[in-house]
Amino acid sequence: MVVRGVPAIAIAAAFSLAVEVANFKDFNGTSEEAASFIELKLEYLVSSRPTAVNLSDAAKKLIEITSNVASTSTMPESVFQAYIEAAEIMLDDDVASNKAIGSYGSRFLWDQQKIVPRFSVLTHCNTGSLATAGYGTALGVIRALHAEGVLERAYCTETRPFNQGSRLTAFELVHDKIPATLIADSAAAALMKESRVSAVIVGADRVAANGDTAYKIGTYSLALCAMHHHIPFYVAAPLTSIDLYLSSGEEIVIEERSAKELLHSQGGLGEQVAASGILVWNPAFDVTPAYLITGIITEKGVITKNNDAFNIKDFVEKAAGKSTA
Ligand code: MRU
Repeated sequence: MVVRGVPAIAIAAAFSLAVEVANFKDFNGTSEEAASFIELKLEYLVSSRPTAVNLSDAAKKLIEITSNVASTSTMPESVFQAYIEAAEIMLDDDVASNKAIGSYGSRFLWDQQKIVPRFSVLTHCNTGSLATAGYGTALGVIRALHAEGVLERAYCTETRPFNQGSRLTAFELVHDKIPATLIADSAAAALMKESRVSAVIVGADRVAANGDTAYKIGTYSLALCAMHHHIPFYVAAPLTSIDLYLSSGEEIVIEERSAKELLHSQGGLGEQVAASGILVWNPAFDVTPAYLITGIITEKGVITKNNDAFNIKDFVEKAAGKSTA
């Protein structure tokens, strides 16, 4: 949890290994062995967080690039160099795709809300510069809405038990001077009942082919509340968060985290506050079913429903030929 947020995890993993291979003075092996070394290390890094798909997607791409170089060159240095260059491209691509998500998302939301000059949104967990290579996904949309002058206020949840919302999102919003208010997770339904927000925007750790989305624990409750109050619910995520191999969210592996995060204050870092002997269930993520999601904002545009269903595969295939906005 020192590095968290799926795109940031993927980039940090790629770069940590880039630093290791850049410092190799005397790698004693063939180019194939250099590629195998990279593959082994990346597989280990992928095992760190099971729910997010971006890390394994990044690893797959990097392994492919390095094994292609190893098949044409006998020099291990060229394998390492190709790896470093590919990791650097990933960093730039993530920022560019977040900016595109921001601009598609803000235009889309503005189109939906046009009747009022400015509107407020609610977000959950942290999807900003501290979770990505920069700018952010859902928080990127909020940044873009603010830059366009159409954001009244961003509400962010505490995001218990680890408090990514109060520690990270609140920090980013204050840092960027975006009008913002922190709420307890349990205040979200009351916030919606009082018509204080016009939309909910969250991130994603993995989106299945039918649109079911795994994201920070509590998201499912927010989506249910939003539907009850007729508030649109959006997921903002790069295409690398979409896992077309999974037909529905039921197949997504949900990471369970330490009981200490609930038993102790400060997300597990402080003193014990809960009664000793109580059992704890602490899933880090939940799955929001597609029927509760209004749209999925990506760097290639917004995926909306046709006859009450997302056709994500079709969108991804068409987007493959389209450049970033
Ligand atoms: O457990 P965390 O803090 O790594 O969970 C982070 C989130 O759920 C995200 O915000 C998500 O990875 C999307 S980041 C753009």
